[in-house]
Amino acid sequence: MTHILNGKALAARIQKKIQTRVESLPSKPGLAILLVGEDPASHTYVQLKRKACEEVGIHFELFLYPSTQPEQTLIDKIQELNARSDIHGILVQLPLPSQNADRVIFAIDPLKDVDGFHPFNLEKLRAHQPSLVSAVALGVVRLIRESVGTDRLPPHAVIVSSPLFAQPLEILLKESGVQTVITQAEDKHLSEKTKQADLLIVAEGIPGLITKEFVKPGAILIDVGTTRTSEGLVGDVDFESVKNVASAITPVPGGVGPMTVAMLLVNILKAYEFQKKYL
Ligand code: GUN
Repeated sequence: MTHILNGKALAARIQKKIQTRVESLPSKPGLAILLVGEDPASHTYVQLKRKACEEVGIHFELFLYPSTQPEQTLIDKIQELNARSDIHGILVQLPLPSQNADRVIFAIDPLKDVDGFHPFNLEKLRAHQPSLVSAVALGVVRLIRESVGTDRLPPHAVIVSSPLFAQPLEILLKESGVQTVITQAEDKHLSEKTKQADLLIVAEGIPGLITKEFVKPGAILIDVGTTRTSEGLVGDVDFESVKNVASAITPVPGGVGPMTVAMLLVNILKAYEFQKKYL
């Protein structure tokens, strides 16, 4: 039997705690999101982030742009938001259709980088200094810890993803004693690597990429990929194919997605507290 890892229920519990904390603050924390282009999964994701912010009492602003928007105008908007004292978190929804994500993310004030993707925050995480840590990575690790128990993390993890998502996760897993390898969908030896994984984390946005031929029996599968198809939101893992091979799997939707949103709220609160203290 494959155990389903219910991110939605855990995220709802975290969100309740955040709501209580926000209610006790002297002013509202604020989040601004830049959303570029028409990717349906990105639009769905941003709506979920808006709903979560509104439910816990975080001020929310959305800036929408066409897919051809020049990169510099995104950077200009970020600089304007960096200077605003009522905005504590800034997030650029990914993927960007044509603009360079590294350059755009670099423009965010690291103290407002609630996605934890800024290279300064990654360096701080590597150096074990206080920082804003990737919300996706925090969500994944929290879900695994709550599901298998903190002292029973699997020994060997493989992450199939771009470095932006994979690196913070690799650092957190290694800190917890999990030997971790990063690879990508194009790797010619992908299945040889994934079949070694006791913990397989996939974030490529390629529906059905992972079938049972890629999975070690008894592995825990974490599906971060989210694509909107005519059948609704689907992950990178072919659920039907792996369901009797894996010991546990996150559903899409209802697995990592809600956890990322919950950890984003945690990061907004942390950014608010940092900024009240140091700015
Ligand atoms: N696209 C898919 N997941 C994420 C995320 O966690 N943050 C951002 N900015 N974009 C995403």
